[in-house]
Amino acid sequence: MTIIINMRDKIDIRKLRVAASLIREGKLVAFPTETVYGLGADALNERAVRRIFEAKGRPPDNPLIVHIADFSQVYELAKEVPEEAEMLAKKFWPGPLTIVLPRKELVPKVTTGGLETVAIRMPAHEIALHLIKLSGRPIAAPSANISGKPSPTTAEHVIDDFYGRIECIIDGGETRVGVESTVIDLTEWPPVLLRPGGLPVEEIEKVIGEVRIHPAVYGKKVDLAKAPGMKYRHYAPEAEVIVVEGPREKVKERIRELIAELKKKGKRVGVIGSEKYEADEFFYLGNSIEEVARNLFKALRYMDRANVDVVLAEGVEEKGLGLAVMNRLRKAAGYRIIKV
Ligand code: TXA
Ligand code: MG
Repeated sequence: MTIIINMRDKIDIRKLRVAASLIREGKLVAFPTETVYGLGADALNERAVRRIFEAKGRPPDNPLIVHIADFSQVYELAKEVPEEAEMLAKKFWPGPLTIVLPRKELVPKVTTGGLETVAIRMPAHEIALHLIKLSGRPIAAPSANISGKPSPTTAEHVIDDFYGRIECIIDGGETRVGVESTVIDLTEWPPVLLRPGGLPVEEIEKVIGEVRIHPAVYGKKVDLAKAPGMKYRHYAPEAEVIVVEGPREKVKERIRELIAELKKKGKRVGVIGSEKYEADEFFYLGNSIEEVARNLFKALRYMDRANVDVVLAEGVEEKGLGLAVMNRLRKAAGYRIIKV
């Protein structure tokens, strides 16, 4: 049985208390954040956390992000808190930034995928913050999708993946950012960007100086012990995805040619992008990079349902939010990229 709580228009503290008590009882509650929906459980309860892995079909070595509602919780979870963590938190929390720090014993290894570090984030969403506060627990929450599917940006996406399999889903409407948080490892110097996300790395560098970008961000096959999340093919629709990168006009031209070629071969073709195309299916992502990020996973899920054989996607420039968008697109494409 899954309770669905509708809180699209207005926050209801009484209902949030119910969800918070489920968390305390070791149950699973999906909730909105500003980035994507999370599948939450008490981060300090091993059995509850194990259920997250089971429900998602997630490999046990891929660690979870622990969500907090007050900065003081960092000191409960992390053994050492460098000054840079405080500076970043002060500037960007609550917000789409996850900080990796050495873990305290209190944090179970199930939560950290066996690592000696813990990833911590304070989400910028009233529902999430209330849920964490009312439960009185740090909440471990990966994106609320079955492993391998695009992350959920609406409660419907969560319902599609988990209805009947978790105790509660809080519907807070569409998420604002649409791509997951930026993950930065502060246990090394210089700090390492493990996953580009909703907070551009350029913004982080303005506060703490140079950040090294983990090669896995660009899809390079390297030692992935520190970035376990990068090992797995993510965000993959059933159809074959091809990303076309380059100057806008050329991309548009090449995609039009590809549509024609593929149609000739009898394929059903879907296109996602910010230009208009005549294809079997078309999903308009928007004009600004913010809109593109917000709509990306929805577009991939749409194409999944539309039964197309091939999805052609416009590449975007890899700066600001564009780095996260391209990282997700490349993964969805299994690195099938055409450069024009
Ligand atoms: O925006 C988000 O981050 C969303 C919302 C729900 O907060 N959560 C999310 O969680 O995207 P998930 O589990 O889908 O992605 C967590 C990422 C993975 O790539 C994981 O490998 C990495 O964070 N991660 C977690 N703990 C880590 C650690 N101790 N060291 C290195 N990477 C870690
Ligand atoms: Mg995820």
